[in-house]
Amino acid sequence: MIFLHNRLYKALSLSCLSLGLLACSDTMQTADKAVEAKELTHNLEIWPQLSIEVKKDKEIEAKVAKLLSTMTLEQKVAQMIQPEIRDITVEDMRTYGFGSYLNGGGAFPDNNKHATPADWIKLAEAMYQASVDDSIDGSVIPTIWGTDAVHGHNNVIGATLFPHNIGLGAANNPQLIENIAAITAKEVMVTGIDWVFAPTVAVVRDDRWGRTYEGYSEDPEIVRDYASAIVKGLQGSADADFLGDERVISTVKHFLGDGGTEGGDDQGNNIASEQELFDIHGQGYVGGLTAGAQSVMASFNSWHGVKNHGSKYLLNDVLKTRMGFDGFVVGDWNGHGQIKGCTNENCAQAVNAGLDIFMVPTDAWKPLYENTIAQVKSGEIAMERIDDAVTRILRVKYRAGIFDKPSPANRVLSGKTELIGAQSHREVAQQAVRESLVLLKNKDHILPLSPHQNILVAGDGADNIGKQSGGWTITWQGTGNNNDDFPGGSSIFDGIKEKLSVGEGSVQLSVDGSYQQKPDIAIVVFGEEPYAEGNGDTDNLEYQRGNKKDLALLKRLKAQGIKVVSVFISGRPMWINAELNASDAFVAAWLPGSEGASVSDVLFTKANGEVINDFTGKLSFSWPASAQQTTVNRFDDDYQPLLPYGFGLTYQQENILSDELNESTEVSETIAALKIFDLAVKKPWKVTLNSGEQSSSVTSNTQSVGAISLRTMDKIVQEDARTIKFDGSEFAKLSISSNFPEDLRAYQEANSALTFNIRVEKTPSEQVNLSMLCEGDCQAALDITSILKEAPLNEWQQLSIDMSCFKNEGADFAKIMAPFELSTQGELSLSFADISLLPNSAEQALVNCSSNN
Ligand code: BGC
Ligand code: BGC
Repeated sequence: MIFLHNRLYKALSLSCLSLGLLACSDTMQTADKAVEAKELTHNLEIWPQLSIEVKKDKEIEAKVAKLLSTMTLEQKVAQMIQPEIRDITVEDMRTYGFGSYLNGGGAFPDNNKHATPADWIKLAEAMYQASVDDSIDGSVIPTIWGTDAVHGHNNVIGATLFPHNIGLGAANNPQLIENIAAITAKEVMVTGIDWVFAPTVAVVRDDRWGRTYEGYSEDPEIVRDYASAIVKGLQGSADADFLGDERVISTVKHFLGDGGTEGGDDQGNNIASEQELFDIHGQGYVGGLTAGAQSVMASFNSWHGVKNHGSKYLLNDVLKTRMGFDGFVVGDWNGHGQIKGCTNENCAQAVNAGLDIFMVPTDAWKPLYENTIAQVKSGEIAMERIDDAVTRILRVKYRAGIFDKPSPANRVLSGKTELIGAQSHREVAQQAVRESLVLLKNKDHILPLSPHQNILVAGDGADNIGKQSGGWTITWQGTGNNNDDFPGGSSIFDGIKEKLSVGEGSVQLSVDGSYQQKPDIAIVVFGEEPYAEGNGDTDNLEYQRGNKKDLALLKRLKAQGIKVVSVFISGRPMWINAELNASDAFVAAWLPGSEGASVSDVLFTKANGEVINDFTGKLSFSWPASAQQTTVNRFDDDYQPLLPYGFGLTYQQENILSDELNESTEVSETIAALKIFDLAVKKPWKVTLNSGEQSSSVTSNTQSVGAISLRTMDKIVQEDARTIKFDGSEFAKLSISSNFPEDLRAYQEANSALTFNIRVEKTPSEQVNLSMLCEGDCQAALDITSILKEAPLNEWQQLSIDMSCFKNEGADFAKIMAPFELSTQGELSLSFADISLLPNSAEQALVNCSSNN
């Protein structure tokens, strides 16, 4: 039930004062602008001149120059365009001769998730043959295929899936990492693919980031060592079998500072100083580039507000000129389109900044190709820059033997399908699983377990290979898979069952923990559901916030006098004090991948009581002591994690965690306002206009679709507000939404109000709703017609609505897709500005829904 305070409009101007912080203050806006405008002084001296192990080869350089001199502008630009398999046909490849192409996460030949290795090879062969067919484009330069083999060849059914990087970091074993990379290269080569988009060398500083698990550590040390090991494993050593028949081109990504964005925001802004940028985020490049990585992927993130894809300083001056990288820079998934002034279809800035290959999925590739050609003709892009980019691409192709190797179907490993998920490969993955496990708690030495005990295996992660594998597993998000999608793989339960078969114990599997025969011990396997990229961003680290069903399961078992061993699956360290308290032993298993059974190799002894494998894994991420402790990192000044970097018990060591860790959730009183619209729409939100069936994402300062039109207007400073007009011809709406669900629970818990400035210019002729939308079909609409009708015309005022009003209408704040959507069938004109969620202001809000009203 909505409550309208009768002090509604009289309070408007007052509320500006009492709410102080917000929109009314123009000083704040000016300050913000100043930050954006601030020029960084750069210091190239910070960056090393690397002694790269792969040297320029005179013969190759001569071949590149010769080939380049024969190429037309169109052929050159085609080398720089990388489309995606869902958006081009083999005939497009024949016509344009793209230098490369990719399959994104969860993209398969013929869109068939169960495509066989033969199907992959068939597509690789067809694309290759089309690229060397000169009948249309006159070019015979072979194309190359890039894929995200980020924990094994993870888009291919039956491949060996290694633990995600976070688990490998806990193993801290560079030799193991090199073996893993070498195996990944082989399985990729079997399918005719030349190039992988790995390793990710992000140093993750804020564990709210959805890509935390793609990072090895919060500290540069392991990342630097691993980067060199993995590049050697993928590409071979510079002095040995460099890019030989069993090797693929590697990509060190995402350059630069992806793991250090503010708030752990995926694709966000990194505000590190240049020295920190190098000391922390640059170390993986020192390792990877020195070992000879042939490609670097530009990152979606910004550094001090400048998108890396458009940063000439980072791409050209630092990476290429100073550090001496002579391979190519590939963009990330339409990342160029995020540069100010660019679109996916048009972006001279990126090329000028030093981007060599546009990763351009969707149908943007064609206009981008045409626009880039036109920009070279007009002089907006210098021909030398194009020649430099193409030289780099061709250099890598020559180094990789692409011109000499037979076609994909005829290469040495091609079609050797017995290598995909081969036993010897799985054994290495099994070793990695064992070494990645970190023992956090072991009360009374309850572990290791004996195979003579009666064991209950519970939790929804116990027999769930998809869940234990996380994102980037067959599908992009890692969702929608079942155990049958992992032929040759095993669940954690599979291993436990096998261990018990050698003793006199028994095993029962029950997700909800119910049992027929009372067990001696319960092993409960639970944790995060799979996610990838921005979908995994959270706003604090509490596990199962608002829905502690796994904790309830642990407590249920404990209450029955059963000892509990927890195996926690997660892509990040999380605040799990309550779950720790309810467990006798607790293992951080991260995301082990396809070889779940190996978890039991560490949990159990042999029948004679001998330890098979002790725990060796050590935390490469500090474990947080509270849900808000999201940026706790080794060497912090005030370092107070629950468990420090490097922690990990062995069987000999004594437990240090009590059963009485603090379980109270401290909602930070100081949580800052979440700005949704402040001068412009804030990341990750975007503005969309919808009318009837049509929809158009707002990209310009005046735009209209059907019954709705929008234009920018000046409230205090230039273009800090928007005017929208509904002409009443059909149902229309303006939405501010995100591509990914956003977790806004903290704002509701902090008693926030949705607050914005509004100026009505034409009163509504019909009902107007203000809605919040969440994932699924969830929609919470408030009728604000009367508020708008009563508002004085052409005067700015502030409106604030208690977030619980939306909750009452069914909004799920864990998964908000759109925090602000204005819709009507009728006529209406209004302007808006400064939309935010303002903590501690629900009670004073003009529209209040809290229960004590
Ligand atoms: C990711 C990259 C990935 C690319 C291709 C992007 O969204 O950020 O890591 O390599 O997609 O799938
Ligand atoms: C692709 C991923 C990519 C993502 C980026 C997905 O559709 O499959 O590879 O990283 O989009 O938005």
